[in-house]
Amino acid sequence: MIQDVGVSDGRTACDFFGRLRSLFPNVAYFASDYGALVKVISNEQCCLVLNATNKLLELTFRSFVFHLPERWELLACFLYPLNILIRWYALHFPAKRLLKNYHTGKLSTHPQEILLFCPKALRLASEDKRFTLEEQSVLHPLKRSSHVIRAMNLLNPSYFTKEEFLRVLRHMHTALFDDGFLITGSNQDAGTPVHGGIYHKSSSGFEEIHRFGNGSPIAATIALFKP
Ligand SMILES: C[S@@+](CC[C@H](N)C(=O)[O-])C[C@H]1O[C@@H](n2cnc3c(N)ncnc32)[C@H](O)[C@@H]1O
Repeated sequence: MIQDVGVSDGRTACDFFGRLRSLFPNVAYFASDYGALVKVISNEQCCLVLNATNKLLELTFRSFVFHLPERWELLACFLYPLNILIRWYALHFPAKRLLKNYHTGKLSTHPQEILLFCPKALRLASEDKRFTLEEQSVLHPLKRSSHVIRAMNLLNPSYFTKEEFLRVLRHMHTALFDDGFLITGSNQDAGTPVHGGIYHKSSSGFEEIHRFGNGSPIAATIALFKP
């Protein structure tokens, strides 16, 4: 059983599963990402993108598209005062009205639900019972135990703080069967060298058994981790 976490649209999960299934015909492969489903609601004034728990992710108002939540940067207020003003207005009036209608069931149309996995991954999941797509955040305890956890381009310092990394590593350690493996690595674009490692779960944490490139960008944090 293998869990591939933070798979984005699932393209690399399809490739890896494709290689594994010929070697391990009984493999059960669970590919996940934390924000795999979004809902779109709109009216003649604005369009909102929400995540599965109804958190507002994006607001389109006339020709403006605002990503939310956005940090209010002082510099942005000076450089783009009109955008900041329009964003404030759109959030507090048309978007608020639309959200209220959505929450009270008064929308004239159903929200459009969009799965962010690519068509190849969706097709594979519907055709091959061994391949499952799901939503999962590594900041929460993982849904199941597995022999292998694969986390590619996810355990990067830009995504999590050190405390969050230790939380993520604890969830992964707990979710691995004894003697399980954590495979992690990062690269730039497709085809560029991968820097990472294969770690073996032990009672004292994770032991690096193989290193590729310069090793994981968070190798020092993984070495520090104690279950
Ligand atoms: C750079 S992509 C990596 C995609 C794929 N694994 C690859 O190597 O091509 C990083 C992914 O991590 C996901 N991610 C970020 N925070 C996450 C979290 N807390 N739990 C699960 N996935 C997360 C993002 O949504 C994004 O899809």
